[in-house]
Amino acid sequence: MCVLKIRSGWLLLLLFSMAFTGCYKKGEPVTSAATFIPAGVTAANVTHTNYVAGVLKNNCSTCHGKGGSADEFWLNTNTYQNASEFGVRIVETIVNGSMPPVPRKPFSAADKKMLEAWINRGMPQ
Ligand code: HEC
Repeated sequence: MCVLKIRSGWLLLLLFSMAFTGCYKKGEPVTSAATFIPAGVTAANVTHTNYVAGVLKNNCSTCHGKGGSADEFWLNTNTYQNASEFGVRIVETIVNGSMPPVPRKPFSAADKKMLEAWINRGMPQ
């Protein structure tokens, strides 16, 4: 009887851990819940320095930076000059979801709004 109890205990543990790891493998959310917006940055004060530079560097430069797989398109993601020259198209591709390409997660709605706010403010540095 005692042996049986231990065995069913192990079985429960096994089932529990299978269910637990299963949670992690469920389908990716359509829109990423996380945002790249640092504390204190709003649609009224967003600039290249306080927000846009970090977004491009962390999400685009692996392919669009020097030596990346798509470096023929707006090479050098890290300068303000480049970001403002191509800004409208850069933001368009993020908002319409074509960049960054699948299987990467699309940006959150909050980030899309913030990028549009930067364009609407005249792409301040
Ligand atoms: C995994 C690699 C990869 C990443 C990461 C990536 N891109 Fe691209 N991008 C490409 C490739 C490949 C092309 C050219 C083919 C195409 O248009 O799909 C491209 C083309 C572009 C173009 C020019 C074509 C057009 O539609 O105007 C823009 C603008 C662009 N990407 C913006 C971005 C932005 C902004 C990010 C970051 C949020 C980003 N990309 C991240 C691979 C990438």
